[in-house]
Amino acid sequence: MPAEGISLGNAIRRAADRLAATSDTPRLDAELLMAHALGETREAMLLGGLHRPTAPTRANPPPPFVLSEGEGQAPITPPAPGTSTALNANGEESAGRANHPLATVRPEPVDGRAPSAAPEGRPSTSLGTNGEGGCPGVGDAFEALVARRAAGEPLAYITGTRAFWTIELGVAPGVLIPRPDSETLIEAAVAHFAGTPGPRRVLDLGTGSGALLLAALAEWPQATGVGIDRSPAALAIARDNAAALGMAHRAEIVAGDWTGTGEQFDLVLCNPPYIGVDEPLPRDVADHEPHSALFAGADGLDDYRALAPLLPAQLAAGGVACIEIGATQGQAVSALLRAQRMVVQIRHDLAGRERCIAARR
Ligand SMILES: C[S@@+](CC[C@H](N)C(=O)[O-])C[C@H]1O[C@@H](n2cnc3c(N)ncnc32)[C@H](O)[C@@H]1O
Repeated sequence: MPAEGISLGNAIRRAADRLAATSDTPRLDAELLMAHALGETREAMLLGGLHRPTAPTRANPPPPFVLSEGEGQAPITPPAPGTSTALNANGEESAGRANHPLATVRPEPVDGRAPSAAPEGRPSTSLGTNGEGGCPGVGDAFEALVARRAAGEPLAYITGTRAFWTIELGVAPGVLIPRPDSETLIEAAVAHFAGTPGPRRVLDLGTGSGALLLAALAEWPQATGVGIDRSPAALAIARDNAAALGMAHRAEIVAGDWTGTGEQFDLVLCNPPYIGVDEPLPRDVADHEPHSALFAGADGLDDYRALAPLLPAQLAAGGVACIEIGATQGQAVSALLRAQRMVVQIRHDLAGRERCIAARR
């Protein structure tokens, strides 16, 4: 039996202290990194008990203590999902979606591959729990993951996954990490189609990881859709996500620009770049996420100017376009859409900031 290291709980606590300088959510980050090192979900890790020992590591030699007060007392109730905070692309802190009734729905991968398979940095399968409740070797793997996060790498690029609405998406450098704020667009669409069978055809302009399109297809299983992006990296990841979620036959991911598709859709989703080029961003965003997904000219409105004239022709009768906006852009983007004779309604994110415009013909 391997010598026991410190407990998972203490390793997480130490890591959270270390990450406090880098992250606004150090404890959550540390828990997610530990779960990733273990090859478990965070919920499974918490339910499995944080009293489990890691093996000793160079960085974590066996401590003179065993358990801190309260540690190892079962049962441990996992925190509610979606209650964390995160930064959106504007660097604004946003509340995650708390306890969404569908939050546990995860479409099954068709090919048996976990949709969250990390592109890199995934520890080997030998890191799982051993038969005696310990986690041999997890300490070194965890330390390496924490070091990357402490150096400013976004958590989702390290774990290779991000939960969004009811689905889990693979993400990697080259694609924007989906933000909880963008779920406001799906909420707006759900509100628009309440009491109806829902949209049959969905268009996602600037699909990135496929987050909005695939969340909508998860919401409305009869729907099919098209995701457009001009980034080859994003297109590859969106296609992988569609396949991993068993939606490849319903989601067409195509290369394109803001030129229009020639088809009318019941639901148009769009989260374009909307950061002004001189706006300050958190370092982990500015240094790691693709600038082509973030910046849109001096005032952040360049892409809305290009997109607004396209939208009326993309919308079917009775349809809605749900467009993400920066928190200060509601009036300016509304004016651009009204100039196209669209009827607009501004919707707010969970932090109460203007986040989405629902536009109809
Ligand atoms: C803010 S990201 C949104 C990604 C994803 N929809 C999400 O919400 O997580 C904007 C996306 O639009 C794409 N994009 C930017 N300009 C574009 C253009 N002119 N034509 C097509 N896609 C564009 C970027 O590559 C990026 O993936």
